[in-house]
Amino acid sequence: MTTPPPIPSSEITPPELYFNRRSLLRAGIVAATTASTAGLYRALNRPGAEEVKTPELVGLVKDRGDSTDPVEQANPEGAADPVEAAPAEPVDNGFHTDETLTSLRSVTNYNNFYEFTTSKERVALVSRNFVSRPWTVAVEGLVHKPKVFDLDEILKLSAPEERVYRMRCVEGWSMVIPWAGFSLSKLLDAVEPMGSAKYVAFETLFDPKRMPGQNYPALDWPYVEGLRLDEALHPLTMLATGLYGRELPAPNGAPLRLVVPWKYGFKGIKSIVKISLTENQPPTSWNVTAPGEYGFYSNVNPDVAHPRWSQATEQRIGESGRRKTLMFNGYGEQVAQLYTGMDLRRNF
Ligand code: MTE
Repeated sequence: MTTPPPIPSSEITPPELYFNRRSLLRAGIVAATTASTAGLYRALNRPGAEEVKTPELVGLVKDRGDSTDPVEQANPEGAADPVEAAPAEPVDNGFHTDETLTSLRSVTNYNNFYEFTTSKERVALVSRNFVSRPWTVAVEGLVHKPKVFDLDEILKLSAPEERVYRMRCVEGWSMVIPWAGFSLSKLLDAVEPMGSAKYVAFETLFDPKRMPGQNYPALDWPYVEGLRLDEALHPLTMLATGLYGRELPAPNGAPLRLVVPWKYGFKGIKSIVKISLTENQPPTSWNVTAPGEYGFYSNVNPDVAHPRWSQATEQRIGESGRRKTLMFNGYGEQVAQLYTGMDLRRNF
């Protein structure tokens, strides 16, 4: 994250729409009506459906021009389609934007995940054999009911919702991603935070055998992140366990990661194994690495430049030209009140 990113040549042409509006609606309906939490993933990821696609595989799938829509894969016989009778989904309400989705190919092949490699275009390749089951997440610290959750227990906390969020990277590029998951508050409620808890600290898996980038000192490992407790409990703050109607691919932080859409993308810590509630502000990886460049809050703010580049505009991956960056990444209506009275230049 030290230099503004080059725009890959694959992005100069507009992205292929892997998931059109109608199929997105269908996925949303599936998400809303799935009885068992794992059902969405089973339904959309039937045996034979490819999971993480290496660049080569993506090329093949694209050329074939068929099975890129997981809903079509789940329903090849064209069984009754519940969307026709369903009410229209609200859009641009914070949880869903109707902006054009970034292609599945870009979302899963242009990544920041330093535990594998610092090369965005190589994360998918280097992480292709990453095994994310079994997986546990310890939730501890200032809580009445600390617990080590098995991934399946977390998935059962809530049916997955599909949320289409903008993601703005501090490097100056952005995407629109259809995540699956649920509000982090559901997990935090389950462990009953104590009154003294003020912050939530997150930690990524540390296992250099499985995450080869951890053999190099690109960052202090493990990757850590943090939020104020009220930020963590905000309904937009999401534990994502999937995207584009499939289980979360390795390059995006399998099996679960944080998504905080009004903050720069690096707050979205991937492959989480530990969550601790604390009284004091926890350290965060990028702040430890470069405190003058990356603050604890890291709210998207077009008026506060990074010391080495402006944050006024961004490159939406798949678009030509740059668009204006919005305060709080366009989520001000939902979150601005969290920062009333704070100097957002000092607390950057
Ligand atoms: N989490 C971990 N553990 N390691 C990382 O290197 N990179 C961050 C964030 N989460 C990172 C991480 C950065 S800089 C960004 S922009 C987003 O993940 C990128 O998410 P994406 O690859 O799914 O687009």
